[in-house]
Amino acid sequence: MPGKNKAMEVLLSRASTDRLIAPAPKGAVLMQILSTSLRAPDHGRMRPWRFVTVTGKHRAAFADLLVAAMRRTDPDMKSAKLEKKRVRYAEVPMTIILGMDLHPDAKIPVDEQVMAVAAGAMNVLNALHAAGFGGMWVSGAFQNDETFRKMLGFTREQKIAGFLQVGTVEGRAVTSNRPDIDLYHARWKGDPVAFGADK
Ligand SMILES: Cc1cc2nc3c(=O)[nH]c(=O)nc-3n(C[C@H](O)[C@H](O)[C@H](O)COP(=O)(O)O)c2cc1C
Repeated sequence: MPGKNKAMEVLLSRASTDRLIAPAPKGAVLMQILSTSLRAPDHGRMRPWRFVTVTGKHRAAFADLLVAAMRRTDPDMKSAKLEKKRVRYAEVPMTIILGMDLHPDAKIPVDEQVMAVAAGAMNVLNALHAAGFGGMWVSGAFQNDETFRKMLGFTREQKIAGFLQVGTVEGRAVTSNRPDIDLYHARWKGDPVAFGADK
């Protein structure tokens, strides 16, 4: 029988949602949640994680910065879409900007540095869920906008992997069905494997 314990239940029940209301985690609870990122595998101890949190009265100015970056990235973007994004970032209780301190010249390939950031972000999403909060990882081409990154304090080699929108899940808990793991697992017995998912 597979193990049944709290940690397993947390890992097997996390799901993303944009139904996020106050409160977001803060203080020691937030630091504990972010600390889980440092448990991610990290080839060469590059420590590439950089988190920037945006909350409270600073959300409006951040939303303005973000929309300006969107406009620069796609000058044809409809103003209704820009306005929707502005309102979203101004209203979501907390945004965690996922920064990546990348070293293209290091022995460790940049892909692996990026994967360490992603693994850290996943730990944060799971920790948010474990602590009773919700989150969703979002992204956009605008995150590569040089001016935007600079205004946030990132250097040329510090890129953005996306944003975690964070808060408390509004209403009922998120349930989302997942496919059967058998579709994504194959046992290697000497011959090439075939995955159910690819049939
Ligand atoms: C790097 C990355 C970027 C993402 N960007 C977006 C995004 O911009 N918009 C979006 O709706 N979902 C985005 N997603 C997907 C959501 O975070 C989420 O995984 C998806 O809605 C499925 O929900 P689930 O996490 O419960 O499976 C992104 C996921 C990753 C890993």
